[in-house]
Amino acid sequence: MQIQDPLFWRAGAVSTTLVMLIVLAFLSIDSYGYIRAGGINVPAYDVINRHIAYEYDWSRHASTPVVGEEELLFGQKFSADEAAQIMRKGKLVIQSRNCMNCHTFFGNGAYYGPDLTKSWLDPAWEQIWMPMTGKETKEEAMVAFLMNPDQYPTWQRRMPNLDIDEEEARAMVAYLKWLSAIDTNGFPANFGRMQPR
Ligand code: HEC
Repeated sequence: MQIQDPLFWRAGAVSTTLVMLIVLAFLSIDSYGYIRAGGINVPAYDVINRHIAYEYDWSRHASTPVVGEEELLFGQKFSADEAAQIMRKGKLVIQSRNCMNCHTFFGNGAYYGPDLTKSWLDPAWEQIWMPMTGKETKEEAMVAFLMNPDQYPTWQRRMPNLDIDEEEARAMVAYLKWLSAIDTNGFPANFGRMQPR
């Protein structure tokens, strides 16, 4: 086959496309092992039964979630099924209210409010919202805030009341707790060490 021959180029294009399709399939399967719930970077949903810390890992130069001892959410131990159910509900409520119209998850969405990927780990829950709401646990303070954000503002920008009931708020808190346990390679950078509000 001559280099001037169109067949030469066609054969080249077809074989390159085929090889890249195989590479793409391999990468997709490989990524799935990292990003599915229960995968390498994403814990299973029942991680909400445990304490989640966020520690700087000097070898990676990134903050990394550390899953610790049992720490029940709302004093309830979720089975794998119950955890999957509440996660589904939390995700649906988040979609139904279009939280991403103001917030980001993993950096996707709008930049009016803070990124919510690590919100569960935000020191502001203990430092600002627990005293403000008078609640004894972080999760109860989050529920109170999500149900009535207009009553507990901290920034100049305020979150509007989105007419969320208690069950919906609890499901979103469970979802946010699980989300915070995902290893995001340190995203968002410097979380929890931002300027004081
Ligand atoms: C109209 C814009 C807007 C929408 C829609 C919105 N938020 Fe917010 N949200 C904000 C703003 C602004 C703040 C910062 C409020 C403050 O600090 O006083 C905030 C703060 C928060 C916080 C506290 C974050 C932290 O760690 O400091 C959480 C959690 C939160 N929102 C969750 C949600 C969820 C869940 C939804 C969807 C049900 C939602 N928001 C919809 C604007 C919005």
